Amino acid sequence: MASKIIQSPVLLASLAAGAVLTLVGCSTLMSANRPPAPQTAAEAEGRQIFRYDTFGDEQLWTDKLRMAEIVDRKVTPLQALGLGLKVDMDKLNFGSFILHNPLGASGTRELLREDAVVGLKATFDNEGRVQRIGVTCALCHSTVDDAMLPGIGHRLDGWPNHTLNVGAVIALSPVLTPQQRAVYNSWGKGRYDPRYNFDGKNTPLEIPPAYGLADVKNETYTAEGPISYWNAYVAVTQMGGHGDFSDPRLGIDIHQTPDLVTAKLAPLRAYQHGIPAPVAGRASASAAAAHGQAVFATDCQSCHVGGNGTDNNAGILHQPSETGMDGAYAARTAVKAYRTTPLRGLRFHAPYFHDGSAATLSNVVDHYDRVRHLQLSARDKHDLVEYLKTL
Ligand code: HEC
Ligand code: HEC
Repeated sequence: MASKIIQSPVLLASLAAGAVLTLVGCSTLMSANRPPAPQTAAEAEGRQIFRYDTFGDEQLWTDKLRMAEIVDRKVTPLQALGLGLKVDMDKLNFGSFILHNPLGASGTRELLREDAVVGLKATFDNEGRVQRIGVTCALCHSTVDDAMLPGIGHRLDGWPNHTLNVGAVIALSPVLTPQQRAVYNSWGKGRYDPRYNFDGKNTPLEIPPAYGLADVKNETYTAEGPISYWNAYVAVTQMGGHGDFSDPRLGIDIHQTPDLVTAKLAPLRAYQHGIPAPVAGRASASAAAAHGQAVFATDCQSCHVGGNGTDNNAGILHQPSETGMDGAYAARTAVKAYRTTPLRGLRFHAPYFHDGSAATLSNVVDHYDRVRHLQLSARDKHDLVEYLKTL
């Protein structure tokens, strides 16, 4: 109780300070990279779906996992921010939020009523309690630019939410077995295992960016299929949306009428393809980066080819051993190998590799130097990193 009383003025003061900062205008590298407005009607429709459509997945999050009860009673705004959930300041009605006890679950309820929690959609009963809740693509694939406060800012669609502890969010559900809860709690920030619910194995993946994909033929770390294939997989089998998904390779054949997913895949694809990789603040064409590009050409370019940096556009996949990767995740997929990841907006989305095993670009370069016996000099490594930062 005492700590609540102490926290309260601190929170209010910092929220107020954040509001002032915002008015003054706070320009960060992230803000400079806010995705452009949709260019076509399909992109605009796709953006709406990406941000706000749950595809009827309340059937999972509310009916099965019983998250509406938890969110209604137990999760305060500070806890939500602590789990890595983000607040969209362009939706936030600051005055109304402050009036609804920002330190209690009613504060979270108010944020949801304002549609200000990125990736969550709620409806309310007559008494103002959360009745149904579901999630959208933006939960994992959007973050905010922290323009007001850490965790509160303008949306950055397509940027992976690397601070979201999605496993810990799911672990709040009261219906899990202790074993399931332990697995969800083991993932940590920015990671999610999109096959755990099928095979019970646990090798979580780093949530990848959903930007810079316009020229990329097959999506996912294992090039499972084109973008709409994967969007349908996730919407139906992971988010729990109400619709159709089948893949004989995986033995999955799900049909639910009405299908709230399939018709949305085309605009969703248009929107994702319209999100460019962030470029602001590119290391200018320094001598170091130029030399790094020459180093890149000696080995890296044999797989990271072309403008989008992946030989998978030519249908190629790689055995885990070729890049010194842990093969456990690939073994669980339909293709059993890894796609050369397209290199885009690299400096904006550490950590790297499917399992997030390289924390920095330096770690990436050291990894390749070791496993591919490149014998790079200290200068080569430094300059290669400078080059990677320009991609
Ligand atoms: C719970 C978190 C979560 C949600 C919600 C989610 N994704 Fe993902 N997404 C992931 C993870 C993890 C991967 C990595 C899967 C892989 O590559 O094998 C991924 C992969 C992707 C990729 C591939 C990126 C690339 O470089 O190949 C795209 C595109 C994508 N998601 C779009 C979407 C869309 C659209 C939605 C909504 C229909 C969505 N995601 C919902 C976690 C999520
Ligand atoms: C034999 C083909 C091959 C070569 C050579 C290669 N890569 Fe890769 N690269 C891959 C594959 C495959 C992945 C995906 C690995 C994974 O995540 O499992 C990858 C992933 C990456 C990533 C992670 C991107 C992200 O968003 O997570 C970076 C960065 C990268 N490579 C840089 C390089 C550099 C620098 C070199 C040269 C020193 C290089 N690669 C050489 C195939 C290759």
